[in-house]
Amino acid sequence: MAQYQSFPDAAGASHTLDKLKALLLPDLEGRDFLDVGCNEGFFCGFAKSQGAQRVVGVDYSRLFIERARQRFPDCEFHNRSWDQLPAGPFDVILLASALHYAEDQAELIGRLVNLLAVNGVLVLELGIASSDKSEWVKVERGIDERYFPTMPKLREILRGYAWKWMGPSIAQAGDPVRRHVIHVSRRRPLAYLLMQPPGYGKSSIAASLFEPANVLIVSGDQKASLVAQGRLDASPALYEALSRNYSPFTLDQAIQQVFDQGLGDELVRLWASEADGKDFAVDGYVPAQYHADVERILSESGYLPVQICWERYGPSPLPGEELAKRAEAFYLSLGDVLPDPVVGEDSRYAAVGFVDELKLTGNTLRIRGWAVDGNGSLPQQLTVKAGTKSCLVDRFEKQLRPDVQKSMSTSHALLGFVADLSLDPEDVDDGILDGFEVLPAHEGVAQGYPLSIAKTVGELLASGDIERLRG
Ligand SMILES: C[S@@+](CC[C@H](N)C(=O)[O-])C[C@H]1O[C@@H](n2cnc3c(N)ncnc32)[C@H](O)[C@@H]1O
Repeated sequence: MAQYQSFPDAAGASHTLDKLKALLLPDLEGRDFLDVGCNEGFFCGFAKSQGAQRVVGVDYSRLFIERARQRFPDCEFHNRSWDQLPAGPFDVILLASALHYAEDQAELIGRLVNLLAVNGVLVLELGIASSDKSEWVKVERGIDERYFPTMPKLREILRGYAWKWMGPSIAQAGDPVRRHVIHVSRRRPLAYLLMQPPGYGKSSIAASLFEPANVLIVSGDQKASLVAQGRLDASPALYEALSRNYSPFTLDQAIQQVFDQGLGDELVRLWASEADGKDFAVDGYVPAQYHADVERILSESGYLPVQICWERYGPSPLPGEELAKRAEAFYLSLGDVLPDPVVGEDSRYAAVGFVDELKLTGNTLRIRGWAVDGNGSLPQQLTVKAGTKSCLVDRFEKQLRPDVQKSMSTSHALLGFVADLSLDPEDVDDGILDGFEVLPAHEGVAQGYPLSIAKTVGELLASGDIERLRG
């Protein structure tokens, strides 16, 4: 039989050393390597020399296998057809210049990919006929007639796999078609990750990209809500983290806690479980410092994670607390320029209100409470009657009282006050609290009825207990 592979002691038809370089094999150290149609075992010998762990060659030519065994006794050679492949898996499988001998070429590629380890690679070196059509081209060679795929046909055959054209292979004298090297791997299901913060348009982007492509979109918010509501099975720890203070408006904070508590693995696996091994997209916020973890978890589950990142355009909303602070400060500032009353003058000053707290510091009596007049506003002034004294308070600070707004159903909360009144030192004794009253005032004159006084404050006043007022 004609010499095919070339060795230093035997020149063959093929420039085997150059072919080896063109194959662009990965590092083989510690790998399991299979060469299908191995001929005299040149590539098996190379794999062994690189520290490959298990090296197997298969060829149906008894003569070639005998020579291979003599040349590379440390490798395992089988004299049989590739219809009976050895048990795998293999990290690297080589099929060089041999595919055209297969009766069903696509079927052989399929069986070889199935024999690969999870991250394994099938190195195909083959002739590709030039044509734009997807077809098998019959090629007359000196020795026989064989069918070679065109590139469109090859694309069709490899559709279900991940593959890459690595470059041309070496030409051989009398070659009827050009040779190429293609690396083929199992195709991992894709997990597209849209993990940007709220307000980045994740859902719109996911819908426009993945709905038309029929790719499942898993909503991170929806999954978290279902767990929080006990409608999706999860560990007690995850349920607790998501259901504590659950609100659809604060889900991003809950997700942060889930990851902070090391429960991210479970959440991510929950997303993936819906996809059941198929491609899917996640529309779910994940804090940036955990993005790499999400990729790792999905990768460990057999997916190829593909992160989709983009910038957010337009102004961001202020954080809720900051906005509330600014809005309230603005509202308070409006209190100084109240417009004309909208109800009759008579009822305007008929205020109701309450004194919640009294405190005496030195000679200053601090009065805290609320009042609302007939116009739904805080009276502009307060007078205090204490002992012989009846006067306007010295300082009158307006305050927001959302509790009063709620119970009085007013349109705003600017109904609270803190007022200070300086007492004469000689008045600061038990007598000062006789007949104590706080009244709304208009243009310096007390109006309407005294404000009610909280029971505890009232008790203090009734007992005339100055010392306890000092708090
Ligand atoms: C052109 S040679 C290529 C040899 C080697 N792969 C290389 O590139 O140097 C084709 C090899 O495939 C082997 N072969 C052809 N059909 C086969 C089959 N059905 N099962 C196993 N080996 C086969 C032949 O014996 C031959 O050694």
